[in-house]
Parts: sequence; C-alpha cells; structure tokens
Amino acid sequence: MQNPKSALEITGDKPKAVRGAIFFLTNDPGSESDPLSCYQFYDDGILVLQNDGHILDVGSTIQIRAKHHLESHEIIDFSGKFILPGFIDTHTHYAQSEIIATYGEQLVQWLEHYAYPVESQFADNAHAQLASRFFLNELLRNGTTTALVFGTVHKASIDALFAESEKLNMRIIGGKVMMDRNAPVDLLDTPETAYTDSKTLIEAWHNKGRIQYAITPRFAVTSSPEQLVAAAKLYEEYDDVFLQTHVAENLNEVALVKQLFPKAESYLHIYDNFGLIGPRTVYVHGVHLTDDEFDLLARKNAALSFCPTSNLFLGSGLFNFRKAEHHKIQLSLGTDIGAGTSYSMFQTMNEAYKVVQLQKTYAESPENKITLTPYKAFYLATLGAARALNIDKKLGSLAPGMEGDFIVLNPEATPLLRFRMQNARSLADRLFTIMMLADDRAVYAVYVMGRRWTEKTTND
Ligand code: GUN
Ligand code: ZN
Repeated sequence: MQNPKSALEITGDKPKAVRGAIFFLTNDPGSESDPLSCYQFYDDGILVLQNDGHILDVGSTIQIRAKHHLESHEIIDFSGKFILPGFIDTHTHYAQSEIIATYGEQLVQWLEHYAYPVESQFADNAHAQLASRFFLNELLRNGTTTALVFGTVHKASIDALFAESEKLNMRIIGGKVMMDRNAPVDLLDTPETAYTDSKTLIEAWHNKGRIQYAITPRFAVTSSPEQLVAAAKLYEEYDDVFLQTHVAENLNEVALVKQLFPKAESYLHIYDNFGLIGPRTVYVHGVHLTDDEFDLLARKNAALSFCPTSNLFLGSGLFNFRKAEHHKIQLSLGTDIGAGTSYSMFQTMNEAYKVVQLQKTYAESPENKITLTPYKAFYLATLGAARALNIDKKLGSLAPGMEGDFIVLNPEATPLLRFRMQNARSLADRLFTIMMLADDRAVYAVYVMGRRWTEKTTND
C-alpha cells in the first residue's frame, strides 16, 4: 500500500493573516435563495490568525487594515481564491477505503461480501496505522478538516486513528464499533468487552488535544439488547462524549430489525427505548424514517447525517430532505466511505442536490418545491455540521475565537470550472458552480489550527 506522509508546516515567529474572497455561514439559510443575514462574504477580505491557531479577526481588507497593525504579520495572498471553513464530514468508516466502489449489492449483502471481510484486517495494528494515514490524508486533500468516524470492532483501530490524527492536530471524533451478533465471529465483541474497550478509549483519548470520542454501536442488527444497554450506560456516564449509529437506511434492513425487535414501535424507537437518543447523538441515513421518527429525533435534539452518494450507490433510497427541514432536524452531510463513493464534500453536495431534485414536484404543497440551495449545501457541510455535533463554538465558521481550520479554493482549478465561472454572475451562482463541478483539484490549500498542511506521498 502507498504510504502517505503528511505534515503541518512549522510556523515562524510571525503571526499570520490570509487574504482572499472569504465566505462563511453565520446561520441556517433555510431555503432562501439569497439569505443575506445568514452569511458573511468579503470579496477582498483578510482572516487574521493568532499564534495558537485560533482566529483573531475577519473582515474586508479595508476594515482589517484600519483595525490592526499588520506590519508584524506574514500576509499570505490568496487573491482570486475563496477562503472557507474546513468541511466537516459527519459520517464515514475509515476502515472501508479499500472497498469504495465494490459492485452489485445493496446494504445487507454489501456488508457481508465487502465490508466485514475488509474490517477483519484491522486486527493488525500495522494495517490500522497505514489505513489511518491514508484516510486522514484523503480527508485533508479534499478539504475536510473534521470528521465523525467509525472504526472497526477492534480497539486498536481507534488507537491507530487517534494517534495519527493527533500528529496532524486534527479535530477527529471517532469510536470503536460495538457489534456482538449477526456478523462473522472474528468481528464480534460482547456487551462487556464493548463497554470496557470503549471506556478505556474514552479515558485515554477523549478531549486529548482535539480528539473526541463517540460511542459506536454499529446498528440494531448487530447489537444485542444487552449491548445497547452497555452503550446507554456509557452515554449516561460521560456527559460530553458522542454517540453514533445507523438507522433506517435500507428496506431489507428495516424488515430485519422488525424481526429482531418485534415489539418496538419503530426502528428509531428501539434506540429511544434504550435511552440512546439525545444531544450529541448522530443518527446516520434515515432514508426510511416515518414522520413520527423524524419528530422523535427533533424532540430529542438528536442529529441526522444525510449520505447521498452512499444512498444512491447502494440503492438505499432517496432521503427526504423536505421532511427533515419540515421537522427542523439538525441535519448535516456524510460521505459514508466506503458505501459512499467520494471523499469530496463537493461531490456529496452535488449528489445531495440531485436527491432533492428527484423528489421535487410543483403540484402539491409548497414544501415539495424546495430545492437544495448552494447556501444550504455549504451550511450543511460546515456550520450545520458543527451545530449537529455541538462544536459550533469551535468550528463551522470563521468568526473571531474559532479554531483556525480553513481551506482555500481555486474556483478556476479546471478548464471547465474556469469556463463556467466566467458566466457566474452572483455569489449564489459561483457557489453553486463550485459545489457541482469542483473536486479535490480545487482545494488549493488546507489549514489545520492555523498551520498549512502539506502532503508527501511515498511508496515506502
Ligand atoms: N449499516 C451498518 N453498518 C454499515 C456500514 O458499514 N455501512 C453502511 N452504509 N451502512 C451500515
Ligand atoms: Zn455508515
């Protein structure tokens, strides 16, 4: 396997400032086509950093020059490029990079044929380390600076991921998968080992630097009631750890869960019956949620991660974005690597847009006319995700005091982007062009906590 090496540049003594077209959301733009009060845009702006990597100030070049003596700063000129908050991917499996684009199956068979065999390799620490490096490198190359990540059932999978994240000073949230039934024997833990291994990982890593832990029962198919009790115990014991799991992704999965929990009111109610829904819980997919289930998520202040490339690839169905909006769900976007087909949040926004378009009708209620606007799409990939994860005081925008995770985009990175951009008159049109046509080639620079990340790939 190729061994990607990445590093953060060593900062000099001088504090830094970056100049370019600065854009970030400040609030949920809903479906407004030009939600002026929900974003900041400085066509020629400066973002001033503190030496510790936090953002000191942001504004137009004229405003910032009037307020600050920048003579002592190193000003990095990205004129002609966009400066945005780093993307936040709220659902991905780092162990599944090797099975992206595996052919022909829907969820249950895809897990059996492709996902479980590849996850078995993570019993090997060296493999976990190599895969962690590859994964984090891919995130950064695509402009994603934070992710909520599934490991595998092996405790070592998360030790490796966190150790590599720590070297890059990335805010990564992740957890060891809990699964004690309906999967190959070598991938099973027990309620007791799942509890103690997760607890050991929490004690070792949670809030160490920028790392945070997420309790990770895979889904109701592979966790026994006893294991869900153990997960709930952990969720109760730690008031700032996260919890992530899958729900209502695929109709066969929903039917299987009905057989396993015949008395439950619904799939989501199973998790609720165990006390697993609340703040800092992130439910993934929800393609087949009922109105009652959407309502339950909203009432319990839980978040939902919409993973369009995965839902299309596995043929899981079309996520009902309008219902999620109607119920005011804390929504965000996930790549769901490796059922998802791209690490890029541009590609994820692109396919989210198409999923919403596929359900658009003009005939019925106004709700059905909703389109995913570029403002909303960028919101879901930045501030919306930070809000869903309750880290919006740290990340998601470029306001003073935030952690300095940001990206520099070249809106003319490819011939097609350059050609199309000439015809993009408004900010909304420029953003829409980027979300539909950009990929990793448009990610010109990536900053993690104020330091520029560089990539070196070797074959050693
Ligand atoms: N449901 C349970 N496990 C998984 C997984 O690994 N990928 C997806 N897409 N859905 C799941
Ligand atoms: Zn998943």
